[in-house]
Amino acid sequence: LGFAEDYLPEDEALLGARQLGREVGASPIGPAGGAALRFLAALLDARTVVEIGSGCGVSGIWLLRGMRPDGVLTSVDVEPENQRLARQAYAQAGFGTSRARMIAGRALDVLPRLTDGAYDLVFCDAAKHEYPDYLAEALRLLRPGGVVAFDNALWSGKVADPGRQDPDTVAIREVLRLVREDERLVPMLLPVGDGLLCALKR
Ligand SMILES: C[S@@+](CC[C@H](N)C(=O)[O-])C[C@H]1O[C@@H](n2cnc3c(N)ncnc32)[C@H](O)[C@@H]1O
Repeated sequence: LGFAEDYLPEDEALLGARQLGREVGASPIGPAGGAALRFLAALLDARTVVEIGSGCGVSGIWLLRGMRPDGVLTSVDVEPENQRLARQAYAQAGFGTSRARMIAGRALDVLPRLTDGAYDLVFCDAAKHEYPDYLAEALRLLRPGGVVAFDNALWSGKVADPGRQDPDTVAIREVLRLVREDERLVPMLLPVGDGLLCALKR
């Protein structure tokens, strides 16, 4: 993976979840991106985090490891089987069931039911063509000083290639533009893994 990706090696719980994620096609965030999520959760002293796209639990474990010990991760995924595997992965990593609230459903059906201004961090990693909609939901869900983060902001180089016009690539490009132009936000694009776009809501 390279020096930066390997700098913080993953333990057995993360490696196990990573392998399952690859097997079921729920491509996990890379180790350096995971470490960035843990860092953000710790910096924010996060008690409440929303994750859009549980997958098999890699990003969830990294987030939980940065959050306060009494923090609750709300994790949304349309595939109940992925959520079952994610839950198992959290248990493998030593987290009690009360630390995660798994909500099965399509992100854009579930997110409107979550409370405004109640979250410290929102991590987006589900349907790429929905990223602009996730941004709008995240801005509603975050408290002032909260952070939204998007995985796959570089999308294997496709975002930077003007020849690529498929819906996923176009939507990621759009969210990059929206975040840069929004004066309520303090943006940052981290080139870790496949790219982690972060923005703090003032
Ligand atoms: C890239 S994987 C998430 C990987 C996970 N964040 C990790 O790092 O381990 C994307 C997940 O989003 C889910 N998903 C796809 N479209 C969705 C939607 N519209 N609403 C909710 N979940 C969705 C898939 O079932 C899949 O588990």
